Amino acid sequence: MARVFQVQAAQVSGTAALKAAWWTLNGMAVRRLTRPGKGEPVDAKLADSPPLSRAALRRAWIEPFIKDARDVAAGLYPPSERVATPAHALARAVDFLSDARRVDRRRRRQGGGVEVRDTVEAKGYPAYYRQNFHFQSDGWFSAQSAARYEAQVEALFSGAAGGMRRRALSLLAQAWRGVDQRDLVVVDLACGSGAFLVDLKAAFPRAKVFGVDLSEAYARHAAKTSSAPVAVANAERLPFADQSLDAISCIYLFHETPPRYRLAIAREIARVLKPGGYLAFADSVQASDTPGLERLLAAFPAFFHEPFYESYQRLDIAALFAEAGLAQVAEDQAFLTKARLFAKE
Ligand SMILES: C[S@@+](CC[C@H](N)C(=O)[O-])C[C@H]1O[C@@H](n2cnc3c(N)ncnc32)[C@H](O)[C@@H]1O
Repeated sequence: MARVFQVQAAQVSGTAALKAAWWTLNGMAVRRLTRPGKGEPVDAKLADSPPLSRAALRRAWIEPFIKDARDVAAGLYPPSERVATPAHALARAVDFLSDARRVDRRRRRQGGGVEVRDTVEAKGYPAYYRQNFHFQSDGWFSAQSAARYEAQVEALFSGAAGGMRRRALSLLAQAWRGVDQRDLVVVDLACGSGAFLVDLKAAFPRAKVFGVDLSEAYARHAAKTSSAPVAVANAERLPFADQSLDAISCIYLFHETPPRYRLAIAREIARVLKPGGYLAFADSVQASDTPGLERLLAAFPAFFHEPFYESYQRLDIAALFAEAGLAQVAEDQAFLTKARLFAKE
């Protein structure tokens, strides 16, 4: 088993290994700076969850890198070899680490998760959205937050975030193998700061790729990062005609959506997809998907402001989309993310 693991790990490119090492260092630095949990009451769910085995954690963490390398070798999508210049990488790390203390202060303060609620920037947005998800500075409401977001995510997952998201890309690319892409229209819904838009454009260079996000600041950043048009819109009311899209990707939105809006969003996705169109969905694994990693899942709502995460953990995702008219046709999983491909009937 250890030998198989070593052989697989050796297939990961030097660039991916370098990025993994860089983000692992960033993650270690932030945990050292902030010591999450120190001096805080121990969360009951976290305390009750079984201990984490380091070997199991390492095996799970490397899986997205291995699957990424496998999919690149299979020609499903090109390597994600974007590497920042050292000066840019350093500037991002300095910004992210200096902000980490502010994030930590918010974590330790009563009401730190809703600091942005009554700010001018948040005015007019739905109440559930006016929160500091992950305790992040400015919530979804500033250019600085948008510029910092990808570093926060990559440091949190020690460089595995891109590879985890690309499980959804892998499913869509397999479904579209051999399909003429020229007239295909793909929308990345809740595109955040645009990392997956870049992947979509690289994988389907002849398709029309758009982004949608509710945050103006994030939409602006995503458009700049990816050079794709990005619309500011609520997933509950998409600015697309009925049956007009060939595919939608949707990554890490549903665990941040209140239960009562999830079906409405699923129905909206189904409305705009053409018959036979695909939804490439990816989000956090649920506890039943990852025996042995329960402690990590319990840490999310305990240390990061994730007000809807526990209800997401109980969500029957396949049943939710089936109710909206989307049938699950494939799935894949790596580390803390599970991807599913749904087809519109
Ligand atoms: C956790 S981030 C995920 C971003 C990105 N998909 C990624 O892979 O990192 C959630 C994103 O969903 C967006 N969002 C949340 N609720 C939304 C809604 N109702 N409509 C559109 N976007 C929404 C947020 O602005 C944010 O960019």
